[in-house]
Amino acid sequence: MNVAILMSRTQLGVQAPPVTIEVFLSGGLPTFSIVGLPETAVRESKDRVRGAIISSGFQFPQGRITVNLGPADLRKTGGRFDLPIALGILGASRLVPLQALDSTEFYGELALNGEIRPVSGTLPASLHAASAGHAVVVPRANGVEASLSSAEVFLADSLLQVSAHLAGTQRADTLRHSPPPVLPASAPDMCEVRGQPLARRAMEVAAAGEHNILMIGPPGTGKSMLARRLPGILPPMSEAEALETASIDSILGRELDLSLWRQRPFRAPHHTASAAALVGGGSDPRPGEASRAHNGVLFLDELPEFSRHVLEVLREPMETGSLTISRVGRQAEFPARFQLVAAMNPCPCGYLGDVAGDCRCSADRVANYRGKISGPLLDRVDILVTVPRPPKDCLRPDAPLAESSAVVAERVRCARELQLARAGASNARISSRELEAVCDATAECWELLERAVDRFALSARAHHRVRRVARTIADLAGEKRVAAPHMAEALALRQLL
Ligand SMILES: Nc1ncnc2c1ncn2[C@@H]1O[C@H](COP(=O)(O)OP(=O)(O)OP(=O)(O)O)[C@@H](O)[C@H]1O
Ligand SMILES: [Mg+2]
Ligand SMILES: [Zn+2]
Repeated sequence: MNVAILMSRTQLGVQAPPVTIEVFLSGGLPTFSIVGLPETAVRESKDRVRGAIISSGFQFPQGRITVNLGPADLRKTGGRFDLPIALGILGASRLVPLQALDSTEFYGELALNGEIRPVSGTLPASLHAASAGHAVVVPRANGVEASLSSAEVFLADSLLQVSAHLAGTQRADTLRHSPPPVLPASAPDMCEVRGQPLARRAMEVAAAGEHNILMIGPPGTGKSMLARRLPGILPPMSEAEALETASIDSILGRELDLSLWRQRPFRAPHHTASAAALVGGGSDPRPGEASRAHNGVLFLDELPEFSRHVLEVLREPMETGSLTISRVGRQAEFPARFQLVAAMNPCPCGYLGDVAGDCRCSADRVANYRGKISGPLLDRVDILVTVPRPPKDCLRPDAPLAESSAVVAERVRCARELQLARAGASNARISSRELEAVCDATAECWELLERAVDRFALSARAHHRVRRVARTIADLAGEKRVAAPHMAEALALRQLL
């Protein structure tokens, strides 16, 4: 019996557990069976592998072919195993030498003519391969993505070309690992937002401490404008964060835009989006918008228009920073640590409390509208700011421009660096215990907070959130100790004064 063994990996959330492809050839009646893959995937893979081997000009073996993808209890996804299966058959038939392959992994879907098609999830697979000290052979179209990892990357175009590479007659192209350059932020600039000093300040504080923020105001006052400018004032992602976020797009089979490397993602799902679109799902679990916003911003515009159920499902990632999708027989976990930015009108017509507008919404309708946003969600919002209609004169074309994103981003960067140096995470992300350690405050400050707790019956969580925001405000001011003015501003930013 002739045997060939190759390595690859499957996809499980952002994990990529190893899979061994064992091919056995023996005499007897011709049969071709693959064990360890779901049934339909097996059928399709067999057809592609046979077609590709024959059209590449190789003889398809006559006897029994048994392919085992192990471990058996691990769920495996589709086309990526075509290439190692085909190479295993060629290797076991002694048509292609397969020596010294114990440190190379193979990925690629075959077309019937032997060409190699791109597959999803090459980035997480390559990252895992790299930490195992393995090289990867990936479809050419996935090469750039794979080379973001430190694995040695060989580019595969066709079964014939990979065979020639293994036979040593023609070496496959390789890609060198080099981190992509970080280009200037592509988000629109803060200087275009006129007036709104309070909301701009709220965005700056939110950016500095990674706080969740809700903006309330009448139509056309700049809420969506402000939200879209948040990524432009946030500090860039670390290389590790950028790889995590890019892994999500890789799993979804999306081409990475390297001109945005290390820029924080900004996802703005429409309010008609389903819960599955938002948090992910499907029988073959796929990440949703909340995961695509990982390490960046999830913007929910027109918050009360989202269904209550959709908002409820966001509680899990907001608390844990990740999402678990459970399906019969398996569980996939995707990271989803995003900063929530939400915007809404004060009432269904939008003009409640506006100086010029006349709102005719009944108290019931207003209560119903606001009631759509559940208490637990509001409890997870650190900053709540009103965005009123800006005074006319600040909209004049000759009115002085406001500060640019670059200037604000620099203050945000300094404040964030203080937080990272002190506790290793932003103020919104540190544990309550760490908060106790870093939130050294004056006696006057505590008195202010206690008065607010009494007056507004603050929950313990809300109490912590105010302290986190106060800590961030002190960081923006470069102060070691949280003082009364910082606490007062934090309370004002939750409309608790
Ligand atoms: N503060 C502002 N400075 C400059 N332009 C503004 C401002 N507010 C609104 N605009 C102009 O109005 C347009 C609409 O603003 P935006 O979409 O941000 O409003 P909104 O507050 O989100 O309204 P809605 O509640 O209807 O969603 C902007 O594209 C911009 O041209
Ligand atoms: Mg808007
Ligand atoms: Zn109204």
